[in-house]
Amino acid sequence: MKKILYLTNLYYVAKGRNYYDEDLYITEKLKDHFDVVLCHPQNAEAFEDYVDLIVFRNTGGVNSFKEVYDNFKQRVTNKKLNIFNDFVGKADMCGKDYLLELDKIGYPVIPTIDNKNDLQLLPNCDKFVIKPKDGCDSIGLEFLTKEELLKRDLDDGLMLIQPAIDFKYELSFYFINDQFQYAMYAPNKEERWRLEKYEPTAKEIEFAKKFINWNDIKKGIQRVDACKTKEDELLLVELEDLNPYLSILELDDDTRDNFINNLIVQLNKA
Ligand SMILES: Nc1ncnc2c1ncn2[C@@H]1O[C@H](COP(=O)(O)OP(=O)(O)O)[C@@H](O)[C@H]1O
Ligand SMILES: [Mg+2]
Repeated sequence: MKKILYLTNLYYVAKGRNYYDEDLYITEKLKDHFDVVLCHPQNAEAFEDYVDLIVFRNTGGVNSFKEVYDNFKQRVTNKKLNIFNDFVGKADMCGKDYLLELDKIGYPVIPTIDNKNDLQLLPNCDKFVIKPKDGCDSIGLEFLTKEELLKRDLDDGLMLIQPAIDFKYELSFYFINDQFQYAMYAPNKEERWRLEKYEPTAKEIEFAKKFINWNDIKKGIQRVDACKTKEDELLLVELEDLNPYLSILELDDDTRDNFINNLIVQLNKA
């Protein structure tokens, strides 16, 4: 059997999600197909030379263990460690700058700037969102009126500025490599992480796939987060390409089994 080092933080406290539940479930399923060992990224170095594959999962925001993460990334490159997700993504794993780029090249993302001098590039509106480029879990995200925005010092270029979208709901598309697996949505805007199964149209899957194709990660699990506007348009909120939470325990049995089976196949190939 292939040996897998499964990196997670079982004790990470995330709003509305139990990371440990998901990782206990997944590793319970993997154990019949791989020799699996679980650890926090902080302890990875002692084991990483002895496994066939490292799976990077629900570790939480890497800012909380930045030095450990940077050293790990360095070793992945230097020692050519076999890792899933591949650390070659251009999206969230590198911070939120990619939203500026995708906006510039005309992809359907929430219009995004990082400098108040560019306000004319955003649609006319009077409510805005600012969020740190290296943020996660809504840390540092604020809703501002135009007046508040104009007063705010944002000259350091560390924040993104977007119109506040009054969306109908948020939805997420989950992929293994470039294969669409399932979609979920948050019917209640106040409860971002109480998700239900969503049946996307072919066109909606195509929307999500566009970002997966752009990112071009060969091995890994990605989550495309989008919002559905009042005009029924889909806009990208975030492309989570490092360690997306999967809400796997909220799925129906068939979808979940199918996902796990596909994951086992792809981990075997990786
Ligand atoms: N431009 C926006 N307009 C309205 N709501 C937003 C906007 N950007 C983010 N949000 C809300 O904040 C949440 C977190 O934002 P997101 O960009 O996903 O950052 P994080 O990396 O913190 O998850 C989103 O799920 C959404 O509910
Ligand atoms: Mg998010």
